Amino acid sequence: MSPDQRVVVVGLGYVGLPLAIAFVEAGLAVQGVDISPDRIGVLADGRSPIDDISDERLAAALAGGFTVGTPDAIAIDEADVIFVCVPTPITATKDPDLGPVLASAAMLRDRLRAGQLVVLQSTTFPGTTTGPFREVLEERGLRAGTDFDLAYAPERVNPGDPASAARAVPRLVGGLTSSATERAATLLEHINDRVVRLSSPDAAELAKLLENVFRNVNIALVNQLALLCERMGLDAWEVIDAAATKPFGFMRFTPGPGVGGHCIPVDPYYLSWRAREFDFVDRFVELAGDINLAMPRHVVDLVAEGLNDRSRALKGARVGVLGVAFKLDVHDERNSPAADILAGLDERGATVRYHDPHVARFRDADGTVRDGVALDELLDWADAIVVVTGHKAIDWDRVYERAELVIDTVDSSRDRTTAERQVLRLGAGWTSRGALGREGVATGAKPAAAVVGATD
Ligand SMILES: NC(=O)c1ccc[n+]([C@@H]2O[C@H](COP(=O)([O-])OP(=O)(O)OC[C@H]3O[C@@H](n4cnc5c(N)ncnc54)[C@H](O)[C@@H]3O)[C@@H](O)[C@H]2O)c1
Repeated sequence: MSPDQRVVVVGLGYVGLPLAIAFVEAGLAVQGVDISPDRIGVLADGRSPIDDISDERLAAALAGGFTVGTPDAIAIDEADVIFVCVPTPITATKDPDLGPVLASAAMLRDRLRAGQLVVLQSTTFPGTTTGPFREVLEERGLRAGTDFDLAYAPERVNPGDPASAARAVPRLVGGLTSSATERAATLLEHINDRVVRLSSPDAAELAKLLENVFRNVNIALVNQLALLCERMGLDAWEVIDAAATKPFGFMRFTPGPGVGGHCIPVDPYYLSWRAREFDFVDRFVELAGDINLAMPRHVVDLVAEGLNDRSRALKGARVGVLGVAFKLDVHDERNSPAADILAGLDERGATVRYHDPHVARFRDADGTVRDGVALDELLDWADAIVVVTGHKAIDWDRVYERAELVIDTVDSSRDRTTAERQVLRLGAGWTSRGALGREGVATGAKPAAAVVGATD
């Protein structure tokens, strides 16, 4: 496929926008479609809503011919290839919600032209591309595999981690036919060094879910270890660092206040839901979900424990939360465990405020909306500080100099000499780092964004 192919990307969020810009930068003609007029307005103004895409990069793409619009404003029928990157949320009962995927299929169905290639990129359960997505696309008579090509190509980007968007990260593609696979793979080779061809869309859909279930299960494993270590009087972080000195057969994951983002707390349920159709209970998914969902409540209990040590009740206490984005150094707050932690503290009678250099306003799980406050104001005001997200932009020296009581859920107190019983650490209990010591263990660098507990 030659670079003069016309590409349309549907859904200009964390996945679709970087994809569209990568294609523009590879010299292809690209148009972006989004149902949100607000999103289109912001993009057309050259303001990037995504941490990983700078305003300068967006402006360069727009100057290079990248156009954006709502579905009615873009000539989708003139495209050669259409990528669909819309959300795949879950319902309140944790069932898949294919609403946006099927709405975009319905929008394409009315514009579909023989010879086009449609590539679904949203994370979803095996059977979506060849099942409901295809059925809607075919409703006006064109047939996938004969009249138009159809493929599934999952995305691996990890917002906040530029390495995850690099060309060197291989992409997976599975087409309905081998020619659809080849066509999608050849196009993706403009922006990725290696494209792995799979035998079907279903295999590619399941491979993507396996990647996310793997992360969810491993995060649950270390979260459970953290709870055990608290009872045993051991330091889970020390234990994990020690195990991670093994150069093979072990991958370092660290505990945290819960999981967040659009992927890890959501995607595994797409698999367990689909498995039930085959009379199969995916117990790993259910168990990992159970453990990770319980972590915010445990953090609230830790805050109560910390205050109790000072003869204070959680009820009536002033609790300052540091970091509400779902992981460090991004402003993405979707499904952040901070939402449950703030609501849980509030329900138990605490007054809660927060500071996050990346999130100006935050809605907790009960719907209460708060504006963030400055770090100094929070430190002066709070009886206890609970660290939920360890953003690099937070002045940690100041936090540990000024706060009398810190509940640290992300190991932000690592390598600090703190006062006696100043820090209550998730997975380790009361400790000052100096008292415990970790000589002999290669502690290495801070945990990478890709493996902290509250992560996507
Ligand atoms: N965010 C990630 O890190 C990540 C990584 C890999 C895969 N994914 C998957 O990629 C998909 C997209 O995720 P995201 O994070 O980019 O979502 P997002 O919410 O950031 O962006 C989705 C965009 O699609 C638009 N949209 C919704 N319905 C539409 C429709 N019918 N037509 C046109 N536009 C529509 C929304 O307005 C929004 O701008 C999801 O399936 C997600 O699971 C996400």
